[in-house]
Amino acid sequence: MRLTVIGTGYLGAVHAACMADIGHEVLGVDIDAEKIAALAEGRVPFFEPGLQEVLGRTVGSGRLRFTTSLEEAADFGEVHFVCVNTPQRRDSPACDLRAVDAVIDALAPRLSRACLIVGKSTVPAGTTARLTARVQELVPPGSDVEVAWNPEFLREGFAVQDTLRPERLVAGVLSGRADQALREVYAPMLRAGVPYISTDPATAELVKVAANSFLATKISFINAMAEVCDATGADVTTLADALGHDTRIGRRFLSAGLGFGGGCLPKDIRAFTARADELGVGDAVLFLREIDEINTRQRRRTVDIARDMVGGEFTGRRIAVLGATFKPDSDDVRDSPALAVAAAIHREGAEVRLHDPEGTDNARAVLPVLGYAADVTKACEGADLVLHLTEWSDYRRIDPAALAAVAPARRILDARNALDPASWRAAGWTLRALGRPLPPPLPNQQSAADHVPAVCSAEVG
Ligand code: UGA
Repeated sequence: MRLTVIGTGYLGAVHAACMADIGHEVLGVDIDAEKIAALAEGRVPFFEPGLQEVLGRTVGSGRLRFTTSLEEAADFGEVHFVCVNTPQRRDSPACDLRAVDAVIDALAPRLSRACLIVGKSTVPAGTTARLTARVQELVPPGSDVEVAWNPEFLREGFAVQDTLRPERLVAGVLSGRADQALREVYAPMLRAGVPYISTDPATAELVKVAANSFLATKISFINAMAEVCDATGADVTTLADALGHDTRIGRRFLSAGLGFGGGCLPKDIRAFTARADELGVGDAVLFLREIDEINTRQRRRTVDIARDMVGGEFTGRRIAVLGATFKPDSDDVRDSPALAVAAAIHREGAEVRLHDPEGTDNARAVLPVLGYAADVTKACEGADLVLHLTEWSDYRRIDPAALAAVAPARRILDARNALDPASWRAAGWTLRALGRPLPPPLPNQQSAADHVPAVCSAEVG
């Protein structure tokens, strides 16, 4: 089929390359000429494992091309995928739909052939209905154009695999013809047995925000349990393992720590509460405000524990920060918990030296005031405290004994519960973590009154 993908950011670039890879003729469109030039040369302008290969081979085959001309796209496509971003509005928690609206306004009047517009961006329930009316107003008389919604569930770091082998496909359609077109687009996935849920557009739009809300809830639930663990001396990682064996609960997305960030989960739950308020059902999702609050509280808790570990104040302290991105295997620092903590500590007077395997350039663009180090050793030289804030696998391979040679204070806070406490402590490090107790004191080393659970002393909330 002839497909266009409008908006070649993170979602669109991956979708365009993968659709070409399964055999379609694809035209990627963006207003950013620089991005289009890079993609047309087969260069991925961001970090995403595996995408470079798919882009290289599809551009090389001629099945994937790029343009800045929406006119060319209108002439070309049987199906137009809209993949532009829908960030949080600056003035409210609601979703900013200006980019989606601008695409529709520019594309619809140019559509003289029968085609389907398929939204993939995350949007509030009711958007397809609104855009359908708008398209009918704008298309040339007699044009046969329909709108459908087909939400995207890809995760950064696994985007290619999630697009080529998704766990499900959801199509929000208004007609059998639109449904048929989407079944044809995804034919190889359907043949491979991927579940395909054909439904109305409002349900499809809701599936996406409900899924992200559920994931956010799961993470905040275990982080709330981590706070309770800190107050009782219990261990949240063992708790999560035990809960996870219950197949109704499952262990995934139950890793306690610094909480969720990125361009999706935080803004999606806020946009959902805003939309629910508009629809008069705000009370039904009131809990999402608490999910958001639990999440941001983990950032404050991390700063509090870190301050406590360096004697009560950051001024004059040298702090090494490992990790800037919102999660590993991504260079994305949007709403990154790691960067929020680094910024807060810097504001309190610490000298911060930050390392990240892929996110340094993006972090520096947002926070040029921090110090940046090319490797872990340089970041940790002379550090009073090391903060482990993003769980890159590289950091799990650090040799604690070797690192102790450059950071003789040997204090580390594992805010992602991803390091092995035993091996760090064996190398003489004081390791603290969120929701995990300190080891019992050695005999005659501490009085019973001193032995309070690790983070009880930290100010919470
Ligand atoms: C998320 C969803 O997982 C995707 O399904 C969805 O398509 C995407 O948003 C989107 O809306 O486009 P992503 O933002 O790539 O994907 O990130 P996740 O892998 O979901 O991680 C989100 C955050 O949760 C990260 O900061 C991660 O560190 C944190 N997290 C995750 C935890 O703190 N604990 C966990 O157990 C799991």
